[in-house]
Amino acid sequence: MPSIHLIISGGIAAYKSLELIRRLRDAGWRVVPIMTQAAAQFVTPLSVAALAGEQVYQDLWSLTDEAQMGHIRLARDPDLIVVAPATANIMAKLAQGIADDLASTVLLATDRPILMAPAMNPHMWDNPATQGNVKTLLARGVKMIGPNGGDMACGEIGTGRMAEVAEILAAIDGMTNARPLAGKHAIITAGATEEALDPVRFISNGSSGAQGVAIANALARLGARVTFIHGKMQMLPPTGMNNIHARSADDMWAAVQDSLPADIFIGAAAVADYAPVNAENQKIKKTDNKNIAIELRPAVDILKSVATHPARPKLVVGFALESENLLKNAQEKLARKNCDWILANDISAMNSATNKITLLTPSETLEWPLISKESVGLRLAEEITKYFS
Ligand SMILES: Cc1cc2nc3c(=O)[nH]c(=O)nc-3n(C[C@H](O)[C@H](O)[C@H](O)COP(=O)(O)O)c2cc1C
Repeated sequence: MPSIHLIISGGIAAYKSLELIRRLRDAGWRVVPIMTQAAAQFVTPLSVAALAGEQVYQDLWSLTDEAQMGHIRLARDPDLIVVAPATANIMAKLAQGIADDLASTVLLATDRPILMAPAMNPHMWDNPATQGNVKTLLARGVKMIGPNGGDMACGEIGTGRMAEVAEILAAIDGMTNARPLAGKHAIITAGATEEALDPVRFISNGSSGAQGVAIANALARLGARVTFIHGKMQMLPPTGMNNIHARSADDMWAAVQDSLPADIFIGAAAVADYAPVNAENQKIKKTDNKNIAIELRPAVDILKSVATHPARPKLVVGFALESENLLKNAQEKLARKNCDWILANDISAMNSATNKITLLTPSETLEWPLISKESVGLRLAEEITKYFS
C-alpha cells in the first residue's frame, strides 16, 4: 500500500489535518502521523491515531517508538512526506538544517519527496526570514501548496491560510500519480453571472461556485490543464490553475471563446437566461409610487454556443438545475443544446455542501447518491477519464 508520512506541526490549521488523514485513507494511502510537541496543543494524538489507524510518532527519544520504526526508517519508508500544516518554525528548521526533534530530524534525514502546506499569520508569512526560507526550500526541491489568501483564524486578512484539503490531495496526486488527463485542456465555468441594471444594481442568482471549484480541483488533480472562468462566487477560486473572472453572461462567453480550443467544457456556472436590454449609465432614481419596467433580452446561451462552435471541445457537459420535471427537462436540454452529457440536479443543491446528481448521456442514465460536491467532482473526473481512455 502506498504510504505517506504526515508531519503535523503546531498551527491552528492542524485541525484540518484530521480531514486530510481521512481523505488520504479513503484514497487508499497508508498514513503514518508524526506530530511536533506544539501540534499536540492543537489536536490530540488520540484523534490523529484513531483517524490514521496507526501509532502516532512524537518523540525522538522514545525507546518504544525507535524499536517500532526508527527515525531513519520514518524518513526513508514512505512514498512521500507531507507537512500539513507547516509552521514558519518547521520551515525555518529545514531550511537551516536544524534537527532538534523527531519531525525536523525526519525531514532532514529523508530522501523522499516533501510537500509542505504552510499556514500562518500573514505577517509571519510575509516576513523576509520566512520568504527567504521558502525560496531556499523550493530551490532544494521541496514542493509547496498554498498558503491561500483570505480571512485568517486570527482575525487578520492576507496570505497565510493553509491550502484546502482538496488542493493538498491534488498536489499529492500531482507528485505521485499517473496523470490520466495530462495534455487535456478543460474549461470550467462556475459561480453566478451579474447583469447590470445600472452602475450599482444587477440581476444575479445564489450560485456559490462550490460545485465548479470541486470539479476543477478534481480534473487538475488528474493532470488536466484547467481554465476556470467564474462569475460571483461565495468562496475563493481554486489555486494552481488559470482563473479568469467574468461578470456578465457576455463577458463569460467572451472569456470562453478566448480560452478555446479545449478538450473538455463543463458549464457549471449559473448563467443568466435574461439580461436587461439597457444598463442605465446613472443610478436609477427612486420615483414616488410609480412602477418601472425593465425590458429583458435573452442572454447568450453559452452551453449551446460552445456545443455548436467550430472549435467545439470533444466533450461538452452542462448542468440542468430544475425545480420541476428534473429528468424530462434534463433530457430535453441534452438534445436541444447539442451537448454530450447533462448533470441533472435539484435546486436543493444551491445552498448546500451536497448534491444529488443524475448523469445523462445519449445512451445512459447514471443516478448518483446524495454526496458531497467534492465527491461529485471526483466521480465526474473519473467518468471523464474513462471517456478519454
Ligand atoms: C494559538 C497559537 C496559534 C499558532 N498558530 C500558528 C500558525 O498557524 N502557524 C505558525 O507557523 N505558527 C503558529 N503558532 C506558533 C507555533 O506554534 C510555534 O512557532 C511553535 O514553536 C511551532 O512549533 P513546531 O514547528 O515544532 O510545530 C501558533 C501559536 C499559538 C500559541
